[in-house]
Amino acid sequence: MKKRRYFDNAATSFPKAPGVPEAVAAYLSQEGGSPGRGTYLAAQSAAETVLSVREALDRLFHGPGPRNVILTPGCTYALNYVIKGLLRPGDRAAFSCGEHNAVYRPLSQMAERGVELVELPWRDGAVDLEAAERLLRPDIRLLVCCHASNVTGALQPVSRLGELCRERGIFFCVDGAQTAGAVPIDMAAMHIDALAVPAHKGLLGPQGLGALLITDQMAAQLDPLIAGGTGSQSERAGMPGLLPDRFEAGTQDLPAVCGLKAALEWGESQGWEELYRREKRLTGHLIARLREMEPDGLRLFGPLDREKQVGIVSVDFPGMDGAEAAFRLEREHGIACRCGLHCAPLAHRALGTFPAGTVRFSVSALSRFEDIDYLQAAVCDVMGI
Ligand SMILES: Cc1ncc(COP(=O)(O)O)c(C=O)c1O
Repeated sequence: MKKRRYFDNAATSFPKAPGVPEAVAAYLSQEGGSPGRGTYLAAQSAAETVLSVREALDRLFHGPGPRNVILTPGCTYALNYVIKGLLRPGDRAAFSCGEHNAVYRPLSQMAERGVELVELPWRDGAVDLEAAERLLRPDIRLLVCCHASNVTGALQPVSRLGELCRERGIFFCVDGAQTAGAVPIDMAAMHIDALAVPAHKGLLGPQGLGALLITDQMAAQLDPLIAGGTGSQSERAGMPGLLPDRFEAGTQDLPAVCGLKAALEWGESQGWEELYRREKRLTGHLIARLREMEPDGLRLFGPLDREKQVGIVSVDFPGMDGAEAAFRLEREHGIACRCGLHCAPLAHRALGTFPAGTVRFSVSALSRFEDIDYLQAAVCDVMGI
């Protein structure tokens, strides 16, 4: 069995931050307790853990305050909360032509319920700002856009889109799935009304958890998609009015919250800026090593510039099906990567790689330079050069 070299951090990061597995295990084996579900010590300690996670996420993303950090079962849920909680029949909603199905599918469901969709085209793999200026009319209620493409890693012009939305009174929701923990995000400076992030990618935490950071203005317009127990205002039939309880029905995934707390503490102890720099260096190395095979026919997609993207590179093997290339990379070299559409058929249509898709290699701040060198040799071998 070959040693595994992991290049699927865009799907979920591995390894997790130091301390994460231990924190999850400690909660399950020693702690217990759910916030708002008891006055005994373990319940209070769980509430403190949840609060510290809200505070750390709010600090990291320059959010509107810890009570505006809603914990969700993942980034997909956070995006659904916004799209389905805000839009009503007759509304117009805009999105970019590179969106993941976590955005495109809920929007498509809303289109069936009478919401009109407006698609913003890409130019060179990023939202075309001239077209956006034209298409983002003030009668649009919501723009949802990823911060970086999960197919090419290309960073999208979210600061400018945020300005356009602010000028026109459009709510702006950013899908931070590929950028949270990988590049700086400043909700206030970027005029973001709602930011959806997963715990398990760049933040290096566990699966099954995400967060929605949301301004008071947007929260006031949002219907809670899920209703149930919150441990607060239990005498009422309706959901509590206050954040975050209004959008947090049901018992939370405390093992994952404890894991995320450990990941965020580790990130702060290293310095997030330092982690962003390390990931950028790794991204540059990945691009440079894969580009060496371009003369032999390996086709690379995306900006191929570490200043303009996160650590994702999609490729097409000459004369070989992507699934076969990915299979051989794992079987013969131990490389874990991903082939196909990566849940983003729209991006592949825009790139011209639909329906076959691409083979995608992705790094995290904890990837190793020597694994990238190994990957380059493995790709050469699979290409027969
Ligand atoms: C751009 C993008 N948005 C949303 C998601 C959904 O994230 P999750 O599966 O963690 O809910 C992903 C996951 O790959 C993604 O890449």
